[in-house]
Amino acid sequence: MSPLSKEDIDRMSSLSREDILEELKTKMLSAPPQSPFFGRDIISIKELSREEIITVLNHATALKQTPQPELLKNKVMASCFFEPSTRTRLSFETAMTRLGGGVMGFADAGVTSTKKKETLYDSMKIIGQYADVIAMRHPAEGAARRAAEATDKPILNGGDGANQHPTQTLLDLFTIQECQGTLEGLNIALIGDLKYGRTVHSLAQALIHFNPTLSFVAPESLQMPSYICEDLKKHNISYTFYERIEEVMAQADIIYMTRIQGERFPDKMEYERVKDVYVLTKDMLAPAKPTMRIMHPLPRVNELKEEIDPTPHAYYFEQAHNGLYVRQALLGLVLGALHA
Ligand code: CP
Repeated sequence: MSPLSKEDIDRMSSLSREDILEELKTKMLSAPPQSPFFGRDIISIKELSREEIITVLNHATALKQTPQPELLKNKVMASCFFEPSTRTRLSFETAMTRLGGGVMGFADAGVTSTKKKETLYDSMKIIGQYADVIAMRHPAEGAARRAAEATDKPILNGGDGANQHPTQTLLDLFTIQECQGTLEGLNIALIGDLKYGRTVHSLAQALIHFNPTLSFVAPESLQMPSYICEDLKKHNISYTFYERIEEVMAQADIIYMTRIQGERFPDKMEYERVKDVYVLTKDMLAPAKPTMRIMHPLPRVNELKEEIDPTPHAYYFEQAHNGLYVRQALLGLVLGALHA
């Protein structure tokens, strides 16, 4: 039920108790059913069911086809980025603006009171008093969860350390469905830094709902964490470890490249040793299926050569573009303007 306005309260003060009860009952019965997304934090992809994931993708499809420039009129999103970002921050901000909402926030925590040692908890408690929804990124694992404890406004996790990047995963799933026509039963190779790459952690966990065959291509020191492999095993999802891209090229429907995450290595010598271990070139695509598509959350460094960009296999720029519609869908859902 929508909150009572001051006019409602003034008018009701002259009514009898029975009339007030009758009016409240009518108001409650005519209220739209409460969506399971309304007011909700999106912290980890594991908290979304298969049906909920599909709801987000369906709304994103509708928003891509039909813009809704007034959907979030009078709503304000705080964009709080404690760690660098191009795609996540700007697509969140554009998503909100193109739905008619307002945006405030920061792209550099160095200009906030974090610089004066304000805690994340206190910052988020305050920001939640100004905004209707908060999109955030932070270098510390668990930061989004801590922020959600500080405020009752929905927190949309745009990446917390090496942990989770659920909104990226939703746009990845949207993109896979768009380029392959389905999410079911695909052969998907995740390649690169599977240890520190939060996008591949969230994506592997989400794919549990869609019966994939997974290939993990990484040096042994950067392989998929065991807690995720255990989860896959529990759900009977087939996965195999590889060390060379060539081993997975012919069978893959999706090649999902990732950057080696230099900023997360405690040992910089180790980073120097592995940083160029995978470099995907055009020649290496020769055995690929014509329908195979290459994705990458971006930014890329050296692992994905520009010579691949004009090939029909390249789909990473479309992937980044889709972030706009998926984040619009999430904003609409958690703010109650869209319904499950
Ligand atoms: N994919 C992604 O998270 O990119 P940014 O770091 O630029 O936000």
